[in-house]
Amino acid sequence: MVYQKKILLGVTGGIAAYKACALTSKLTQKGANVKVMMTKSATEFVSPLTFQALSRNPVYIDTFDEKDPEKIAHIDIADWADIVLLAPATANTIGKIANGIADDMMTTTILATEAEVYIAPAMNVHMYAHPAVIKNMKQLEQWGYRFIEPGAGYLACGYVGKGRLEEPETIIQVIEEHQQINHFLSGKKVLISAGPTRESVDPIRFFTNRSTGKMGFALAEAAADFGADVTLVAGPSNQQLSNGRINRFDVVTAGDMYEAMHQHFSSNDIVIKAAAVADYRPKIVYDQKVKKQAGDLSIMMERTKDILKSLGAIKEHQFLVGFAAETTNPIEYGMKKLREKNLDAIVINDVSTKGAGFGGDTNIVTYMNKREEKEELPLASKYKIAEKILKMIDQDMKAGSQ
Ligand code: CTP
Repeated sequence: MVYQKKILLGVTGGIAAYKACALTSKLTQKGANVKVMMTKSATEFVSPLTFQALSRNPVYIDTFDEKDPEKIAHIDIADWADIVLLAPATANTIGKIANGIADDMMTTTILATEAEVYIAPAMNVHMYAHPAVIKNMKQLEQWGYRFIEPGAGYLACGYVGKGRLEEPETIIQVIEEHQQINHFLSGKKVLISAGPTRESVDPIRFFTNRSTGKMGFALAEAAADFGADVTLVAGPSNQQLSNGRINRFDVVTAGDMYEAMHQHFSSNDIVIKAAAVADYRPKIVYDQKVKKQAGDLSIMMERTKDILKSLGAIKEHQFLVGFAAETTNPIEYGMKKLREKNLDAIVINDVSTKGAGFGGDTNIVTYMNKREEKEELPLASKYKIAEKILKMIDQDMKAGSQ
């Protein structure tokens, strides 16, 4: 849906700019908040005043026309937008973005935004078929930009063929369908824990485990890509997030993770505990290095709190998901954890299987909900597995609320 969405419409210099007026009007009628930015060439075709009147918002044209000294306009609107729609997009603007050129309001804003960008090209049929344009569009597609391709039809330059701007109604329909299918977690808050924990012995040593955080980070990225508002609580991990909208909190010990998860729990709708939490920690943490002595060394360990179980005990509206890392009888142990920790679903990981478990880029898991319905997810990248897990959580939540 575009209702109540903040849409930044980028209009570049082509004759199809006139259709962007209808697009602005239709989006506004559907309840979207539209702001328009134009390239200098676009203003040769349509007056900025037309867009200002249709959108009831100021129109952005010049990067250096800073109206509010408190803000940098192109960063401000780049951050403001939920969706950026470039329509019509000329070969020139497509080429600039694909090559990282940012020399005007349009291109600086598009490079600065983290919103989803849809591009509806419009150009002459031969320009559209030029290898440079094809290459630039492919590059943008690879980076996650989505094209709304023009249909064949009568072009202003006299040729009939591909190059015409897609009709405003169709552009809006494509965006709405795409948002609906791909943003099924929009409006949902998701809390994920990832990685190992680390328990100190002394300033030099600690106990940890083989978890790298890859599965939990993949879940955070996929949830954000599906439109969720994501909070990630991460134990020590080298993983980086590519999505800048994820709130990341770094923790070290099982105790820190307990605090962080409880702090965020009540405000989240879906909580996934993918972290490999230490079950034991040294009973005494020494301030100074423990020096070696003759003979063996024993370190007394004490139990940490079971974070997931404690969340299961206080759960209200949340859909709570645990992970089970097993080397024997995975389904049996997984089912036991599902019941004992009062979970809504569990992701069972036989870490002894090739291609599954810690460190690798792939995984093989079984998803089980509280009705004990099982779905095996065969070998795939951790991101793909994450996508499937989130889709099943969404299905189970919908089934549960019926
Ligand atoms: N977990 C937790 N706090 C702990 C231990 C585990 O929150 N102190 C969570 C993990 O994040 C995971 C689930 O519990 O989601 C299962 O973890 P796992 O290590 O597979 O099992 P344990 O519960 O520790 O049980 P066991 O050691 O008997 O396998």
